[in-house]
Amino acid sequence: MDHGHSEKERRSAEERRAAERRSGKDRRDEAGWKPVVLESAAAGTYDDAALVVAAVDARLRARARFSGFKVGAALETAAGDVVTGCNIENATYGLTMCAERVALYKALSEGRDVFTRVAVVADTDDPTPPCGSCRQLLWEYCGDIEVILANLSEVKKRLRLSQLLPLPFDARLLE
Ligand code: THU
Repeated sequence: MDHGHSEKERRSAEERRAAERRSGKDRRDEAGWKPVVLESAAAGTYDDAALVVAAVDARLRARARFSGFKVGAALETAAGDVVTGCNIENATYGLTMCAERVALYKALSEGRDVFTRVAVVADTDDPTPPCGSCRQLLWEYCGDIEVILANLSEVKKRLRLSQLLPLPFDARLLE
């Protein structure tokens, strides 16, 4: 068996997929999107809202005793699985990990490496977007995914990660 050859093929396929993700080519058309209420999600009417419900659920497990600000995230894989995360704070404050990165690190460590959407939920009237660190990490590992920002009762905003990180630094600049 020619391991060298198949390894090379596997790598070029991975690079192609990563380039497609970065360019947004493998993303779904956003036309027709409307804000969605969570009741519809529970009924399974909208798959976007089902992702939001997973983030709402994850938020309940937040360890946020220092800020009191609980966040939940749900990351959808290309295979259709959902990996969730919540923010985890600790007494040093600085070692806090955001919900988005908890979800991302869980997913990567479990062998998931192609992602389609992320939902972020906090109990705020205005949408709670990912912080700068999370934008960077999501960009590098997920590409130009859809970002759904919701509170406990409705989706507030939906956009692409490239709108949140318009001039990214990433591995391409190191080549
Ligand atoms: N936080 C997140 O988990 N995700 C965000 O998108 C914004 C902020 C967390 C970090 C910290 O535990 C708390 O919210 C307050 O900043």
